[in-house]
Amino acid sequence: MDFNFEDDTEVCTCWSITLEQLKKDILENNLSSIDEITDFNDAGSLCGLCRSTEEDEDCDRVLHLSEILKVILESKNS
Ligand code: FES
Repeated sequence: MDFNFEDDTEVCTCWSITLEQLKKDILENNLSSIDEITDFNDAGSLCGLCRSTEEDEDCDRVLHLSEILKVILESKNS
């Protein structure tokens, strides 16, 4: 699975959660929705901008939980 971002890219800046941590949490715990990710590690629970492009209209975040989840779920189903 290729995100075109370094693993140390901070996705949720409110909680300092990196792409690497999110990939690990999603895969190891079979998380399948943004809300499940938020419940598990708090990503997306403060400003909410990291959740999706819909919630980040000015694109303040480079990468969002929705995009990470989509790539991981697609790779699991292929
Ligand atoms: S950047 Fe993730 S909740 Fe604010």
